[in-house]
Amino acid sequence: MAEQIKILDTTLRDGEQSPGVSLTAQDKVDIAKQLERLGVDIIEAGFPLTSQGDLEAVAAVARAVRGPVIAALAHANPKAVDAARDALKDAERSRIHVFLSTSDIHLMHQLRKNKEDVLELAVTNVARAKQYCEDVEFSPMDATRSDREYVYAMLQECIDAGATTVNIPDTVGYTVPEEFEEFIRSIFENVSNIDKATVSVHCHNDLGLAVANSLAAIRAGARTIEVCVNGIGERAGNASLEEVAMAIRMRSDLLGFETNIVPSEIYRTSRLVSNLTGMSVQPNKAIVGGNAFRHESGIHQDGVLKMRQTYEIMNPTHLGWPAMEGGIVLGKTSGRHGFKARLEALGYDLGDEELSRAFLAFKELADKKQVIDDRDLEALVADKMRTVEETYHLESVQVSCGDKASPTATVRLVGPDGAVLADAALGTGPVDAIYKAINRIVHVENALTEFSVNSVTEGIDAQGEVTIRIESDGRSYVGRGADTDIIVASARAYMNALNRLLSVQRNAESEVPASS
Ligand code: KIV
Ligand code: ZN
Repeated sequence: MAEQIKILDTTLRDGEQSPGVSLTAQDKVDIAKQLERLGVDIIEAGFPLTSQGDLEAVAAVARAVRGPVIAALAHANPKAVDAARDALKDAERSRIHVFLSTSDIHLMHQLRKNKEDVLELAVTNVARAKQYCEDVEFSPMDATRSDREYVYAMLQECIDAGATTVNIPDTVGYTVPEEFEEFIRSIFENVSNIDKATVSVHCHNDLGLAVANSLAAIRAGARTIEVCVNGIGERAGNASLEEVAMAIRMRSDLLGFETNIVPSEIYRTSRLVSNLTGMSVQPNKAIVGGNAFRHESGIHQDGVLKMRQTYEIMNPTHLGWPAMEGGIVLGKTSGRHGFKARLEALGYDLGDEELSRAFLAFKELADKKQVIDDRDLEALVADKMRTVEETYHLESVQVSCGDKASPTATVRLVGPDGAVLADAALGTGPVDAIYKAINRIVHVENALTEFSVNSVTEGIDAQGEVTIRIESDGRSYVGRGADTDIIVASARAYMNALNRLLSVQRNAESEVPASS
């Protein structure tokens, strides 16, 4: 029988460390609930000491999720361990994850401490975590560039102090599969109490080897793999959840392992994370990229049409991919019942109010676009279910522009007290004019740092999905909007980002200072 590999997802922690990504507490809860449906065993929800906002976000995840273990990260410092404990107090099952660097380069240039002091810090903080929580993980950061004897000694002592999982991070993505496999094997040979802990691995992708290194580690005895959805994370990211899970599943004949990941939830998880982080998935990304199941050359198309398996090793619908061209379509005459049934088949179980909003938007879209396929429905539901509370709602937008005209926009917003607020502005282009008109009403300083448009489907009547990022006070906020008119989609995306910013500001104003 295949042996179980546990999946620890760190999208909400290492994934959030991707440059430009900033998730609200509600975003984290939405992603965590989806990770629960996906079958993740452990969800690393954040690093509570870094901000009161993150402490509260981890606490919100700990309250909302049942099933997976909720982990919180702490460096080897009593305040960090206590913040992790506070954040996890309502979790059904919790884990404190303590980390500390072990490489000479980190000790010398970052920690500026000697090996004995660092070892002492690791042990005392693991012991502190153990007083609060039975499940304690310890990571020697930059393990793959560390003196091995020192790593063995630290693991040995941290296990004695109560660590139940020891995680070996390839922090800078430096190792290669053969070397990493041998390193993990050497840990089993040189740490005499290793049988009291589970060995986990955490691989970064700087050389594009994170998944290969993770798979090499399980051959050597690791039984937990730390991953991020879509492979996001610091720099080049972490091992990708969907790639690790599907490699283990597809090649169980060779590897002999299995995971609890539910393949049919993979696509939706990927989309949700991409929507909420604002990080698009590269088209050629394995499993979840836009081209992953597209066939271009005539020979390939011919083969797939005759028999799918000629050029496809996985069936995209088993991974939750919506039907592509030729799949089930809805149109103008489709009713609420059919709409609801199709959404349910795609895995969306909307409440009455959300369904009504989505159905209204569907009818509006059906007036503009003849055929609505599953990809349109995905974009529409993502648009209507944006979980951020709307301080300002976009009621209408009108633009006049052209090669001989000055771009002018008029917007009407519904404000916090229900009043309709209208204003107009000129801009360098239509989107600039809209954003300036909105700024005249909302008055929040920010800078637009990213703007991109993607077509949801093919064809001239396709919906455009606009993703933007704005920055204010050193924090960035993502906004998305979809419409057949990309100018309207741009206005929606900006309102979405602004409402996020306002909601974060409101929460910060009502924050109680963290207890020490
Ligand atoms: O990459 C790393 O070393 C980490 C640790 C905190 C586990 O993310
Ligand atoms: Zn990491």
